[in-house]
Amino acid sequence: MRKALVAGNWKMNGRIAKNDDLVSSVLSGLASGNLDSSVDVMVCPPAIYVGQVRAQAVATRLMVGAQDLCEFEDGAYTGEVSAEMLVDVGCSAVLVGHSERRTLFGDTDKRVAAKLSSAVAAGLAPILCVGESLEQRDSGDTLAVVEQQLLSALSGLSPEVLDLLVVAYEPVWAIGTGRTATPEQAQDVHAHIRQVLATIDGPLAEKVRLLYGGSVKPANARELFAQKDIDGGLIGGASLNADDFLAICRAAVAG
Ligand code: 13P
Repeated sequence: MRKALVAGNWKMNGRIAKNDDLVSSVLSGLASGNLDSSVDVMVCPPAIYVGQVRAQAVATRLMVGAQDLCEFEDGAYTGEVSAEMLVDVGCSAVLVGHSERRTLFGDTDKRVAAKLSSAVAAGLAPILCVGESLEQRDSGDTLAVVEQQLLSALSGLSPEVLDLLVVAYEPVWAIGTGRTATPEQAQDVHAHIRQVLATIDGPLAEKVRLLYGGSVKPANARELFAQKDIDGGLIGGASLNADDFLAICRAAVAG
């Protein structure tokens, strides 16, 4: 049985005071007993606020992740943040290969693979993001695109990486658009992702958590999370509102 995970990707949003309010509200929601421990909850603030959020969340069940990392170890890489630094400030996970990084910031498959490898080497759980564009879906290439992204990100790594790995399926056409994949569309891709992972290691593939992301809201979360291979969500816009985020977390409660 896989434990559900709901992770909020704040993207490039936040200010000290706002973060404080948002995290306080999320923490009081988590503490109020409305959400049992069958769901892991995480927020991924911008790197500069990770320390702030972690200080607030320390000794609570709220986990903190980062949105990106540098593929290299510490050294002369101006402006970058290493995996070891993320661990140092209390991150337990990091997004790798988000579509915004791939399309806007030049994260090629090769760089995504290098980032994933650095994350794992530092003991961070990589949340590998994969997903097709609208054009690729319309031309029937969804499964092939996702499979290629997955295999290239994991190439050269040992099967044990699956122990730490989380995969987020985020169709590009559903991100920030209000257009969500139907539960069936998402489940089809998730099932395929699990099959591909099983070619690396069958038993470990059963344990990998597969998140859906792309316009997840309180109104559609339950139906999505009810699918067999959807083990939670990666939430953008709705994670900036504590009530919505907590409602989505509750939708992931088992059973
Ligand atoms: P939205 O939930 O705003 O569509 O964003 C999804 C996403 O990109 C999470 O990483």
